Amino acid sequence: MTQRKKTPQTQYLADYKRADFTIEQVTLDFSLFDNQTIVTSKIVFKKTNNRVKNLHLTGEDLTLLSVSIDQKETSHYEVSDTGLTIKQVPNEFTLSTQVLIHPEKNTLLSGLYRSNAIFCTQCEAEGFRRITYFLDRPDVMTTYQVRIEADKTQYPVLLSNGNLVEQGDAGQNRHFAMWHDPFPKPSYLFALVAGDLACINKTTTTQSGRDVLLEIYTEKAFINQADYALGALERSLKWDEETFNLAYDLDRYMIVAISDFNAGAMENKGLNLFNAKYVLASPETATDKDFFNIENIIGHEYFHNWSGNRVTCRDWFQLSLKEGLTVFRDALFSADMTTKGYKRLEEVRTVRDHQFIEDQGPMSHPVRPSSYIEINNFYTLTVYEKGGEIIRMMYQMMGAETFKRGLALYFERHDGQAVTVEDFATAMSDASGIDLTGQFFRWYTQSGTPTVRVNSLYDAQSKTYKLTFSQHHLPTADQANQADKQDLVIPIAYRLFDEAGQSLCDERTIVLTESEKTIEFGSLSKRPVASILRNFSAPVRLHFEQSIDDLHTLVRFDDDLFVRYDALHHILKSAVSQLIGQQTTPQKTPQKTPQSIPQSTLTQLVGTYEYLLTKDNTPAIEKAELLALPSLSVFFSLLPEHPLDAVDQAVKTLSAALAQQMSEPLQARLSTPCEHEEHDLSFAAVSERSYRNACLQLLSYAGDTDSIARAKNAYDQAQGMTNRLAALEALNQTQSPEREAALSDFYQRFESDPQALDKWFAVHASADFPNTIDTVKSLATHPKFQLTNPNKVRALYGTFCMRNLAQFHHPSGQGYRLLSDLIATLDTINPSLAARMASPLTQWQRFDDARQDLMKTALTTLVNLQPISDDLYEIISKSLA
Ligand code: ARG
Ligand code: ZN
Repeated sequence: MTQRKKTPQTQYLADYKRADFTIEQVTLDFSLFDNQTIVTSKIVFKKTNNRVKNLHLTGEDLTLLSVSIDQKETSHYEVSDTGLTIKQVPNEFTLSTQVLIHPEKNTLLSGLYRSNAIFCTQCEAEGFRRITYFLDRPDVMTTYQVRIEADKTQYPVLLSNGNLVEQGDAGQNRHFAMWHDPFPKPSYLFALVAGDLACINKTTTTQSGRDVLLEIYTEKAFINQADYALGALERSLKWDEETFNLAYDLDRYMIVAISDFNAGAMENKGLNLFNAKYVLASPETATDKDFFNIENIIGHEYFHNWSGNRVTCRDWFQLSLKEGLTVFRDALFSADMTTKGYKRLEEVRTVRDHQFIEDQGPMSHPVRPSSYIEINNFYTLTVYEKGGEIIRMMYQMMGAETFKRGLALYFERHDGQAVTVEDFATAMSDASGIDLTGQFFRWYTQSGTPTVRVNSLYDAQSKTYKLTFSQHHLPTADQANQADKQDLVIPIAYRLFDEAGQSLCDERTIVLTESEKTIEFGSLSKRPVASILRNFSAPVRLHFEQSIDDLHTLVRFDDDLFVRYDALHHILKSAVSQLIGQQTTPQKTPQKTPQSIPQSTLTQLVGTYEYLLTKDNTPAIEKAELLALPSLSVFFSLLPEHPLDAVDQAVKTLSAALAQQMSEPLQARLSTPCEHEEHDLSFAAVSERSYRNACLQLLSYAGDTDSIARAKNAYDQAQGMTNRLAALEALNQTQSPEREAALSDFYQRFESDPQALDKWFAVHASADFPNTIDTVKSLATHPKFQLTNPNKVRALYGTFCMRNLAQFHHPSGQGYRLLSDLIATLDTINPSLAARMASPLTQWQRFDDARQDLMKTALTTLVNLQPISDDLYEIISKSLA
């Protein structure tokens, strides 16, 4: 994270060169004080190329105190803002440097920094260079020996990677600990923690009978919220051994919860650092969804121990090598812990509602980018989620057993190495006999979302049915090196049903490699209903015109949750579009005649919803997903030809009509007594809550006094956060005294719980009222709000700018000004967060001309900031290009 270099430098994949030196081992000594930290390093270097004379090390924000080679102080070096060059070095030598750093002033949250009273680190991708001069690149791996010395009273706990080898007294009320990590690792996996922490632990045993100590560390006040995380960690270890035969390799696995954290969590070897939000939870303070995310992310970081740490990336262009694979592994894990359909829909939403939008915008890039200015900007949905989709397609094409063999071969072949995405594709190809290195590999190198068009033709005479699939590739913003889009390998799972929902064939998969392909079915006495792209078998936009009747058949009878969900969204979209049609017919007196959905549309829709509520035997947790109405943002993406305001109006009309029509069956469903206690976290209890809350939510769109009273009652009765927040969100749709009362009660209860309080900020920011922007401005001065804490920034501003479409995009442009002012300030505090917060503005292409102008004005102000970080500059300049 280079702050304010004069000219931003673009890095290119094509320029990759091996390092001229290897590092044989490194010894680090940290002397931590409240006003400064001294880092002494001893690094053993060896040339890989004897013609090289100088050694260049990266370093940022370091004050160099001394340099010596083989114990002799030297002055043959040059220091710059970005590094240290040692002149005329021997073939093999030990370099010692001493630097002074200021973790206590580090608001970037990269390198060594302080969060509350805890010293902690975040080194991925390029934070280690903010700790000491080093070859800070992932293909340079070595073993670390680390000594930490600090005040005994303030920092009783001193942690680093690997095994604790020694600890003791250091005089003057100071103490030390020495850690050694036997596994060679790149610098981005280094970690250090010092603080007054509490710990819970548990010993687990691997299949081979080795004991592993699992530990969760948190600030003392929150240690009673760590139990779930500890259980999730144990489940992760067991699952990876059972599923992929991958066991943990050290004697100790530590997780530390940190309040100020840029990302979700970090997989440092043996010492994971986590955003506190993904560790701490109790039924009173966290929702079932929070628990789900905690388990998923604990799994993700744990699985990195193999996919990331044992085998790592050669360079940062290969980021998806570890992230795409680990996203897919964590998805399999979470699906096993819940249901496949439930987890899959969550992924589908992330990919379609967010990654597709990234692909449409100025930051469109391939899963393996070929250039970047600031690597922090490439921890994207494309690298992570689309990368995960590529692995899923491999899995789909080769089957689970072959996939396991492929993964085993990859780990066997490359254990201890830093490799490329090609190396992974080659191992998987060798194990499966399916070539993933040729046409399939374009998924890694070509940006953009493919469109698959499907045309169907039924011929009653010959009783044949034809499906024609074709693939289309639109230009993307990165067209400079992406002009020539080529056809991809697209697995499309499908199945046929009859009108009554009876299956006509088993699921099959067509692998589309050419630009068009037709398949034909015979002996069909009636036109079938096709179920296409089952389980979202490829990350593509599907264009398939189906009749509303067919869509209803699919929602009711298909056995594929994704297809049902997608069909329902198409039905809703068509209803919204009918409503907009009424709006746009010339209206002399706008808004006087209330719009209404044609009765036949409504009747059929209500029939399907009633079917879901009363007849369908889908698992409750999945049914809840079907019952949840898509957000405005999703409708807006589905109807790109209409202005936001029109879509917003129509969605409100539709939701209210549905709520009114469905009132009886919904209330009937809600009046049945709960079978589970609110503190019960079993899958059955979670499912029941999700289903009931989906009903409550749907009912609340009516917005009448009854539904307010019902939501208030639900709030007052709630014991756990899941029900409490669901009720609060229902109340949040009305500017009622009940809403005010619930919000102030919520504050009283959770004032001193940062995670729960983030929800309070977010609920305010998501309210769809014209004065919400003023509320956001005033909450920004609330004593519990801090600009230096990314979770708070995301809860308040992130929610308003990314989840409150109607208010953020208010035609006055005041939302855009609020955000650009925030970004300008944040850029001087935490550039990587500033750059992330800019994404709503960069999506200007999706909006009408007036809004586009206002958004571009905001972007222009930002691009002219002096100084500006590389992080922010890259995002803003690309979005104005
Ligand atoms: N490797 C971490 C993870 O997958 C994320 C690190 C984020 N780092 C960053 N510079 N954005 O879970
Ligand atoms: Zn990861």
